[in-house]
Amino acid sequence: MKKLYKNALIDEKRQNLLVENGYISYVGEDAPQADEVVDLGGKTLIPAMIDPHVHVRDLGQTEKEDWTSASRAARKGGVAMIFDMPNNKPPTVNLINLNLKREVAKKSLVRYKFNIGITGYNLQSVREILQENPSDVAALKLFLAGSSNNEYVENTDDIKRIFDLSREYDLPVIIHTELQKCIEKYASQVANPTIFEHNFIRNRECAVRGTEWVIDLAKETGNAVYIAHTSTAEEIELIRRNKDKARIYCEITPHHLLLNESVLASAGNFAKVNPPIRTEADNRALWQGIADGTVDVIGTDHAPHTLAEKSRDYALAPSGFPGLETALPLLLNEVRKGNLTLNRLVELTSTRAAEIFKIPDMGKIATSYRADLVVFDWNKTGVVRAKEFETKAKYSPFEGMEIIKITQLY
Ligand code: NCD
Ligand code: ZN
Ligand code: ZN
Repeated sequence: MKKLYKNALIDEKRQNLLVENGYISYVGEDAPQADEVVDLGGKTLIPAMIDPHVHVRDLGQTEKEDWTSASRAARKGGVAMIFDMPNNKPPTVNLINLNLKREVAKKSLVRYKFNIGITGYNLQSVREILQENPSDVAALKLFLAGSSNNEYVENTDDIKRIFDLSREYDLPVIIHTELQKCIEKYASQVANPTIFEHNFIRNRECAVRGTEWVIDLAKETGNAVYIAHTSTAEEIELIRRNKDKARIYCEITPHHLLLNESVLASAGNFAKVNPPIRTEADNRALWQGIADGTVDVIGTDHAPHTLAEKSRDYALAPSGFPGLETALPLLLNEVRKGNLTLNRLVELTSTRAAEIFKIPDMGKIATSYRADLVVFDWNKTGVVRAKEFETKAKYSPFEGMEIIKITQLY
């Protein structure tokens, strides 16, 4: 079956695109013969998003999310591939649990890979997974502090052993760099915390020191280190200064880019997330990191929890909120406003992730790449309405913010 999309705006040029069996077989000004022709009428086409940072929650936490709801949310948000994080019930830390996850993930409506959880205690179990050279494993995930789980690594020897294993199998290590002891120090200084103290308790110092530490280790060991949800100006500067000295990749999220503490008064615990939403100065630093190439990837950190859980008091409400359906629509609106170019957005949401995590057939609109595409009209705007989400988590700190409406062609 050959499908021809006519009159698409690709790289600012009007072009036609032929799709055969899910792959692009032609891009250009000719109109090759096809079984079906769709006129896109000058709408813009970009590659769908690859999201290396998603918490699907299937198996033990299906009240929060499962592969059906998560992958529906992904499709609706223009995300064509998700990497599922390991902090589930049961955690993805050995082959048995990975195989359980592989079974339920078959329900997914989008492509996927798995990030394997690694601690000081499960190196042998992770080796057992990697020995099979699995093509569905994207990276190893390491937490330096508890965050919706209590597995984290604190000592240098453990981290070095983890880095050795990741080097042996040439896999990036994705790191949540906040430091547990540092968070505990700040937490002990606040008697009755509210959401307004979240940014003080999970203090910027904890993220900055952790990021500095792993950058030093990356320089020493040569490992590919992917810093998850970078949230502060200091970390952006550290990464910028060291990028050419080591294999360091910088992920930011739409919420750390577009939101700051001013959202807390209206969003409350809906905006509770780790690392916390920071300040306007941090927003500006992240934008600067986008402009000068310091930032590699925008990942959603889609971290659904139930409405009932998020409605508890600050101390009891879990951190995280859904992001799959809002990322690309919000970011396209930033392009419309002139805050970044469309090319740069595509690098951040697709091309760089495909390079870093070695996905050879995604990240570009070109012959022999997958036809996982998103189409939109710059004039068709809307607003975030969480009650219309496909995710089970029907709330959002982005509620009411302007978006570009998108359609996925996959
Ligand atoms: C994530 C979750 O709920 O799984 N929560 C969050 O606040 N980001 C865990 C994480 O990514 O740190
Ligand atoms: Zn994290
Ligand atoms: Zn996360």
